[in-house]
Amino acid sequence: MGYLNIILMIIICNNLMCTADGSLKCRILGNTNTYSLSERGDFILGGLFPLHFFKSVPDLLSFEVMPKLSTCSEFSPRGFRWMQTMIFAISEINNRQDLLQNITLGYTIMDSCDHIATSTKSALIQLNGQEGEDGSFSCFAAGRPAVNMIIGDAGSSRSVAVLRTIGPFHIPLVSYFASCSCLSDKKEFPYFMRTIPSDAFQIKAIVKLVKHFKWTWVGAVGLDTDYARFGIQLFIEEAKQSDVCIAYAEFFPTTYTRERILEIVDVMKKSSANVVLGFTGEGDLVPILDEFRLQNITHIQWIASEAWSTGTLLRNEYRELLTGSVGFAIRRGQIPGLKRFLTRLRQSDAYTSPFIAELWEEVFECKLNNSLNTHTHGAQSRKPCSGLESMETKVHIYTDDTQLRVSYNVYKAVYAIAHALHNMNSCIKNNGPFENNSCAEMKNIHPWQLYHYMRNVRFLTLGEEVSFDKNGDPIPSYDLINWQMGQDGSIEFVKVGYYDATLGTETELFINDSIILWRGGQVPKSVCSESCNPGTRRTPRKGQPTCCFDCIPCADGEFSNQTDAVECLKCSLERWSNEAKDQCIPKSIEFLSYQDLLGSTLAFISIFGVCITTAVAAVFTIFRKTPIVRANNMELSFLLLLFLVLCFLCPLAFIGEPTTISCFMRHTLFGISFALCISCILGKTVVVVMAFRATLPGSNVMKWFGLAQQRASVFLCTSIQIVICIVWLTTSPPYAIQNTKYQSAKIILECSVGSNVGFWCVLGYIGFLASMCFIIAFLARKLPDNFNEAKFITFSMLIFFAVWITFIPAYVSTSGKYTVAVELFAILASAFGLLVCIFAPKCYIILLKPEKNTKKYMMGRNSHTTTK
Ligand SMILES: *[C@@H]1O[C@H](CO)[C@@H](O)[C@H](O)[C@H]1NC(C)=O
Ligand SMILES: *[C@@H]1O[C@H](CO)[C@@H](O)[C@H](O)[C@H]1NC(C)=O
Ligand SMILES: *[C@@H]1O[C@H](CO)[C@@H](O)[C@H](O)[C@H]1NC(C)=O
Ligand SMILES: *[C@@H]1O[C@H](CO)[C@@H](O)[C@H](O)[C@H]1NC(C)=O
Repeated sequence: MGYLNIILMIIICNNLMCTADGSLKCRILGNTNTYSLSERGDFILGGLFPLHFFKSVPDLLSFEVMPKLSTCSEFSPRGFRWMQTMIFAISEINNRQDLLQNITLGYTIMDSCDHIATSTKSALIQLNGQEGEDGSFSCFAAGRPAVNMIIGDAGSSRSVAVLRTIGPFHIPLVSYFASCSCLSDKKEFPYFMRTIPSDAFQIKAIVKLVKHFKWTWVGAVGLDTDYARFGIQLFIEEAKQSDVCIAYAEFFPTTYTRERILEIVDVMKKSSANVVLGFTGEGDLVPILDEFRLQNITHIQWIASEAWSTGTLLRNEYRELLTGSVGFAIRRGQIPGLKRFLTRLRQSDAYTSPFIAELWEEVFECKLNNSLNTHTHGAQSRKPCSGLESMETKVHIYTDDTQLRVSYNVYKAVYAIAHALHNMNSCIKNNGPFENNSCAEMKNIHPWQLYHYMRNVRFLTLGEEVSFDKNGDPIPSYDLINWQMGQDGSIEFVKVGYYDATLGTETELFINDSIILWRGGQVPKSVCSESCNPGTRRTPRKGQPTCCFDCIPCADGEFSNQTDAVECLKCSLERWSNEAKDQCIPKSIEFLSYQDLLGSTLAFISIFGVCITTAVAAVFTIFRKTPIVRANNMELSFLLLLFLVLCFLCPLAFIGEPTTISCFMRHTLFGISFALCISCILGKTVVVVMAFRATLPGSNVMKWFGLAQQRASVFLCTSIQIVICIVWLTTSPPYAIQNTKYQSAKIILECSVGSNVGFWCVLGYIGFLASMCFIIAFLARKLPDNFNEAKFITFSMLIFFAVWITFIPAYVSTSGKYTVAVELFAILASAFGLLVCIFAPKCYIILLKPEKNTKKYMMGRNSHTTTK
């Protein structure tokens, strides 16, 4: 008794029940009526296929009678086809001359019944050789396992269970349908290989698919098994990296309870996620779909996992709920000769094996005489078979070879083993891969030796190259399948795209959108929040997944030109966001222009001032002979009028686009023209004082301040201003700038003063002159004269000061063109102030009261001057 036997005994005893009688006969608990199918050969392959679906029966575990571990209830014609494909591939290989010459393959195939315990039991039976008549068998009769390799099982959970059970014997398992990514873990499952890609790839493809259709809010449901747990966990992780959010992930228990199903359906009903990934086996969705039908829930768009994306069980039963579903399916293959092999069965074959008997009865829905089949499936009411049934003409899932996907995987698995054996057989002595360059002994192969060859096998089958990566996984490629309602109301699986991981991330997923038929006619929507339009950005909602967000308009000066922008971008310095905040437009340029109402009004007022001044000058010229004009030092008056014209003209330099020249001009013209005016007025004031002194006896002051001196004083005073201006312009002259800081939406074209000192010196000098003027005039205001100008000069200076003092706060508190406008108002107001105060009274007398314009009147008005 080898150690393997003991280990096996322990496992069986632990898992099941052991009635060892000392002669190493074991009896396995439960339904021993497990079908098996076998064929002798030099090398025996084990096979595990779910030929039935499992229905869990609640009172199974009451322990009042001996528990039946499996209730293999529904027959699975698809599983049967898979099994037949294995037999077909083996017979094909045995007939080939170029592969495994002189070695024949045999097989032992058992039903795993879609059920973990049955699957494990079947695997153990295969390892031990055939089951005895009475349900007992010799454990490891040959001292080593009866099979060196098992093809199976279909389900991931069942494969995990089988692997854990047979793991100690180093028996490799090659699965054709167990896709759980958990099985890629070589530490835990070192002897596992498969011909179906790992779910890790399928999940990647599904996430890409979800992204493609912009479904960012997706639910996931699955049966509580390794397959769904790992798959959905992977999906959640992958989705997170692709900005797809999971609305819910619900698992329903393997033992059916209506309450749990109702809970899950409730979650699905209430969620706004319309797209749901059903990551389950083919039969597992049935309770949910039944509940959907009961509650009339039709809005769910399903994404099928590859386990049911081409499943025939659901396709016609639930067609109204599932039409439009999409999902990835493993690659389809066309196996020549398989159809003939499948349909070659005759009624006589049904009497050779209970398997075939059951198939026959299921396909033709009849009952054979003395049938070997003990599964009834409610078949009591079936009519007896007529004997005229023919597989060749029967249209049935079993005979349908148009969707060979899993079958194709089975085919590839058999071929992979055959090629590995072939390579092993071709080993050249003393040049082998094992210790001391030895080869494997073909008569006594160790499973691990075979596994060594399996991992490195690489071959072509039906035009496809098959190889395995270091985890024993094949290179992934999937078809994208869409469930479309055909003309006759049945569902057809239509290939609408593919996923091929060898093509690189950009092109690996191809979808032909135009041929997808959605249930609602258009791509369903599944989002938590509608996407944000350009001009807005996403802000996450507190405590909710990232796909749930609000849209906030961008701030002024920022924009977003994409939908679903996470951030608004700042416009460049010369640009500003438009009203919709979806692009930047050049900032508007602002300056006081002639086109402006403000600008043109100011220009008009300025011209008007020039006209008035000219008119006054004309009146003075016409009436130059009259006493009032003559009395008021005529030349200074004319000079003043001339300079006032300059003052009125200087606003014109302020209007229009600022350029270097106009900036130069502005302040100098302003400073000098006002300096000229105030100098004249100062001259006039001095003349008034002098004139009064002159009238005093013995004074010859007038001689000292004659015309020449007056002119000289005017130009002397002004020249100081000119010097200030020259210094200012040469050291740091004013220049035109584009001011973007003050008002963000506009570019303000303005003149920088260059040097503030220069600017305030110019203003200050004018202020100084004006103050001098004011003081002298104020002192002279009481001087007796019939037409004392000093009063008017005082008054004009008061206005002047008032204007410029109010100017300062207004100047500081306005911006852009209004600053300029305020300055112009001050210039115009002060110029008008001077004009009106000094010349209006005289014009009034000249034009309206000519009777007062006499020397006599001028002299005779004041009592003390009459003495002159
Ligand atoms: C198969 O057997 C025949 C006859 O026994 C022998 O001549 C031939 O070399 C063998 N072929 C291989 C590949 O072993
Ligand atoms: C199911 O719902 C659809 C619309 O949602 C409605 O047209 C239909 O009549 C409902 N059927 C039943 C049986 O309630
Ligand atoms: C999509 O399918 C239609 C119909 O079969 C076909 O005409 C079209 O060329 C396909 N588009 C692409 C990009 O393959
Ligand atoms: C959005 O704006 C950026 C930066 O201005 C530009 O590079 C990009 O092309 C724009 N995209 C679209 C779709 O207008």
